[in-house]
Amino acid sequence: MKNISINPGKNNVGAYVNDINLKNLNENQVNNIKDTLNQFGVIFIKEQNLDPESYQNFAKSIGQPVIYPRLKGLDEKYPFINVIERKPDDRNLSFGSSWLHQDTSYLADDRPRYTMLMGIEIPVGQGNTIFSSGFNAYEKLPEKIKDKIKDATGIFSSAGPIAVTRLEREKEMGIKSSESMEAEHPIVKTVNGKKTLYVSPGHLIKIKNVDEKDSDYLKDYLIEHVNKEKFIFSYEWSKGDICLWDNLSVLHMASEIKNCKRVMYRITIK
Ligand SMILES: [Fe+2]
Repeated sequence: MKNISINPGKNNVGAYVNDINLKNLNENQVNNIKDTLNQFGVIFIKEQNLDPESYQNFAKSIGQPVIYPRLKGLDEKYPFINVIERKPDDRNLSFGSSWLHQDTSYLADDRPRYTMLMGIEIPVGQGNTIFSSGFNAYEKLPEKIKDKIKDATGIFSSAGPIAVTRLEREKEMGIKSSESMEAEHPIVKTVNGKKTLYVSPGHLIKIKNVDEKDSDYLKDYLIEHVNKEKFIFSYEWSKGDICLWDNLSVLHMASEIKNCKRVMYRITIK
């Protein structure tokens, strides 16, 4: 029996998990949170304001947190917490903005599945995170497109369209950019018994295993499809909120922020 309260997000994208204190979870609640995450693709948990210890512990209850090499850790005690900071005078694109994507789709094996953010310092009226449901987008595809892509794979590259935000960030941090990475994955995945679209527009460079003459058309079609308003939920943050998503079934992007400070704590989980 469910012992947590949930309600769906806008356009049926993800679910809010209500009336819960993540500092104090029993095993049953942890299992229900994981089930909700797998079923809905992204969960929103309002105003938790966890200390770093509790935040990192919550991540460990979901899976194995991983060190994300391109972002700095909070400190030695909390190596899994990456600080994403936007300063008022930053003029470049926000990290991960402009293109919907699925994190690290350019890794071949063993790529982290979940990403979690907690709002630490939230500006008023901007800096939403935009989610698109791969489940809903797949379900609403015309049957003839479903048929064309049933065995299709995508080539995903870290040098795809979104790379500009990463390169700017690396330059800012003085990191020498690594070689680009590329991987091939099926673009229709099954999660929790439901099919979902895995097309990460920020990384997708080619669709394979389809009729070659359809390849470019299908790429453009699917990118436009997952961007449709009816599959999108633009999440407005409050301080202390947590968003946790499954990169197999949900796409996301940052929105633009101008002339204000924002700080988020990010943890990537296998
Ligand atoms: Fe991202």
